[in-house]
Amino acid sequence: MTTGAYAAAYQRSLQDPEGFWGAAAAGIHWTRKWTRVLDDSAKPLYRWFVGGELNTCYNMLDRHIDAGRGDQLAVIYDSPVTDTVRKYTYREFRDLVARFAGALVNLGVQKGDRVIIYLPMVPEALVAMLACARIGAIHSVVFGGFAPQELATRINDAKPKVIVSASCGIEGQRVIAYKPLLDEAIKLATAKPEKCIILQRSMAEANLRAGCDLAWHTVMETAKPAACVPLAATDPLYILYTSGTTGIPKGVVRDHGGHAVAMYWTMKNIYNVQAGDVYWAASDIGWVVGHSYIVYAPLLAGCTTIVYEGKPVGTPDAGAFWRVISQHGVKVLFTAPTAFRAIKREDPDGTLIKKYDLRGFQALFLAGERCDPDTLLWAQQRLGVPVIDHWWQTETAWGIAANCTGLELLPVKPGSPTKATPGYDVRIFDEAGDQVKPGQTGNICVKLPLPPGCLPTLWHNDQGYIDSYLSRYPGYYLTGDAGYQDEDGYLYIMSRIDDIINVAGHRLSTGGMEEVLAAHPNVAECSVIGVAHELKGEVPVGLMVLKAGVERPEAEIVKEVVQMVRDKIGAVASFKQAVVVQRLPKTRSGKILRGTMKKIADGVEYKPPATIDDPEVLGEITAALRRIGYATAGTEPGRYAKTAGTEPGRYAK
Ligand code: COA
Ligand code: AMP
Repeated sequence: MTTGAYAAAYQRSLQDPEGFWGAAAAGIHWTRKWTRVLDDSAKPLYRWFVGGELNTCYNMLDRHIDAGRGDQLAVIYDSPVTDTVRKYTYREFRDLVARFAGALVNLGVQKGDRVIIYLPMVPEALVAMLACARIGAIHSVVFGGFAPQELATRINDAKPKVIVSASCGIEGQRVIAYKPLLDEAIKLATAKPEKCIILQRSMAEANLRAGCDLAWHTVMETAKPAACVPLAATDPLYILYTSGTTGIPKGVVRDHGGHAVAMYWTMKNIYNVQAGDVYWAASDIGWVVGHSYIVYAPLLAGCTTIVYEGKPVGTPDAGAFWRVISQHGVKVLFTAPTAFRAIKREDPDGTLIKKYDLRGFQALFLAGERCDPDTLLWAQQRLGVPVIDHWWQTETAWGIAANCTGLELLPVKPGSPTKATPGYDVRIFDEAGDQVKPGQTGNICVKLPLPPGCLPTLWHNDQGYIDSYLSRYPGYYLTGDAGYQDEDGYLYIMSRIDDIINVAGHRLSTGGMEEVLAAHPNVAECSVIGVAHELKGEVPVGLMVLKAGVERPEAEIVKEVVQMVRDKIGAVASFKQAVVVQRLPKTRSGKILRGTMKKIADGVEYKPPATIDDPEVLGEITAALRRIGYATAGTEPGRYAKTAGTEPGRYAK
C-alpha cells in the first residue's frame, strides 16, 4: 500500500487499458493465451481477452489444489437457522463440484445449455454454480424471495435444460416450501425444463414428480466426476436477471475471461485480502453481490468464503455478525447498509459487539444502496475499522467507485463511495449532453469500453443492451444513477433516474409493481413510488385511481393489491401500503410526476414542476399520503419519514 498508488493505477488503467488488464490477467490460469486483450471491432460492443481459453472453475478450485492448498478451507456453511456449521476444504469442495458436474452431464447438459438455480443459502448452490462453470453450461440463479411468476419469466427467457432447486428455504423462524413455487412457475412458463434436481431438506421434504424430478443425493450417487472443459474467454459464464424499468427483467450476461480477471484483481486491490484469508459477503447468491463476492472472487483468490443462512438480526440476535466474524476469523465483511441499520436499531450502543473477539477483523465494505452517513459513522465508531462504502450494479459485477484499500486507503468521506475505481472512466452529463461542473448533479455515465467483468451484452439481446445503456450518450454507458463529483473527485450517488428502487438492498422495479396494480379490476390508473424508510432505505407505496363507479371500501382493495404484488413479484418487494386518490399529478403531456410525489411523501422540499397540468392535485396527494403515515407535518426535509405500522422491537415491514 503506497501513497499515490490509487492515482497511478487509475491513470494507467485509462491510458493503457490493454496493458493494465493484460498484466492483471497474469493472475489467472489460461489454457490458451488471448490474441487481443480488447477487441473493439464491433463498437459499441467490446470483448475482452479474445482468443483466450480458460476454465473459471479450474481457477477457483483445482488450481489451488494443484498449488498444494487442497486442505485449506474453501467454504464454511454457517446456518444459525438450522444450527449447522459445515466446513469444506478446497479438495472436498472440488470433488463435490466435479461430481455434480458429472450429474449434469448425465442429464445431457452440454456447453452453452442453461441451468436455472433456485436455491436458498446452502453450499449446494455454489456446487451447482461451479459445476456449470466446469462444463461450460450457463447458470442463471434466481433469488429465492421471488414469486413463481418472476421465476417463470426467467425460465421463459433462459430456456433452461435443467432447474436445480430445494424442497425448502428457511427465513428466520419460517420454513418456506420452495417446491410448490417451482412447480407453479413451471406450470406458468411456456419453456419447460427437461429435468429438475431437488435438494431434499429434512425440515420439509418435497414430493418429486416421477419422470421429471430427481433428488440431489440420487443424481450424486450415480455420477462420475467431470473434468474442466476449456472455454473461450468470451463464452457466457452466467446470466443474472435484474430489474429494469418494466416488469420484464434484463438478462445481464457475464463472460468467463474478463470476469475472472476482474474478480481476481478486486480481491487484492479493493478488499486487500489474499489467499488463505477468510472473506465474508453477507448477501444472497441470488444477487450480484452474492455471485461476485460469496462465490467467484473469493474462490478465485484462494480465500475461504462463508455461506451464511441467517439474518443480521433475529438469528438469534443482533450479535450474529460478530459471532460469525470471531468464530471463523473473518478479515473482511461485505454487506448492505440496511443490515447495519437493522443491527443498530436492535442494539443501538453496540453492546453485543463487545462480547466477541474481533481483533482479526480488518474492514467493513457496504454497497447495494446509498449508505447514509449516520449508519457509516455508527459502524466505524463501534467497530474501529475502516468502513468503506462502494458503488456498483448487477451490470458491472464489481465496484464502479470504491476506496481501493489494497492500493491505498484514501480518506473516507461519509456519503461518498470514494472515487472511480481503476478501469472506470466516470463522467457526469446534463440532459443536453454536456459534462457538469464539480458539485452539480447529473446523469452518471462511464466512457466505453467498460472494464473486464462488466456485461458485454444482454442475453440474446444486443439491441436491447444498446437501447437501454449505450444510446442516451453515444460512446458512454448510462449507469441509471444520478449524482455528482466533488472538487476532490469523490463521487456521490444520489438517486436513480428511472423507476428502479432499492428495498433493503434489493433492486426492484416500481414499473413492474405498477403492472400488477393496474391488473386489479377496480384500478383505472396507478403509480408506485419508493419512499424513504428508516430500515430498508426505501419501500414501495402505491397510489391508485379507481374506475368510475367502484364503491368498495379502500381497505379491501389495498389488501388485495398488496397480496397481488406478493403473489406476482414476491415477498421481497415489501409492498405493504397503497392509497386511493382521485387523480394523479401529471405534466401537461400526461407524464405522471413520480419524483414530485416521492418528495411529498419524504417531506422533502419541492417546487411543483412548471409543466404540471394542475398544481391543486398536489394538495390531494399530500393528504392521501398523510393518511398512511407519510408526508407528515413532523417530517423534516432530508430525513426519513416516520413509517406507519412499525412495531416497536421489530424491524419495519
Ligand atoms: N426466500 C423467501 N423469502 C424471502 C427471501 C428468500 N430468500 N428473502 C427475503 N424473503 C422475504 C422475507 O421473509 C420477508 O417476508 P415477509 O414480508 O413475509 O416478512 C420479505 O421477503 C422481505 O424481506 P427483507 O427485505 O429481507 O426483509 P426482512 O424484514 O425479512 O429483513 C433485513 C430485513 C434488513 C434484516 C434484511 O433485509 C437483510 O438482511 N438485508 C440485508 C441486505 C442484503 O443482503 N442485501 C443483498 C444485496 S447486498
Ligand atoms: P444492483 O444491481 O441490485 O446491485 O443495484 C444497483 C443499484 O443500487 C445502483 O445502480 C444504485 O442505484 C444502487 N447502489 C448500489 N451501491 C450503491 C452505493 N454504494 N451508493 C448508492 N447507491 C448504490
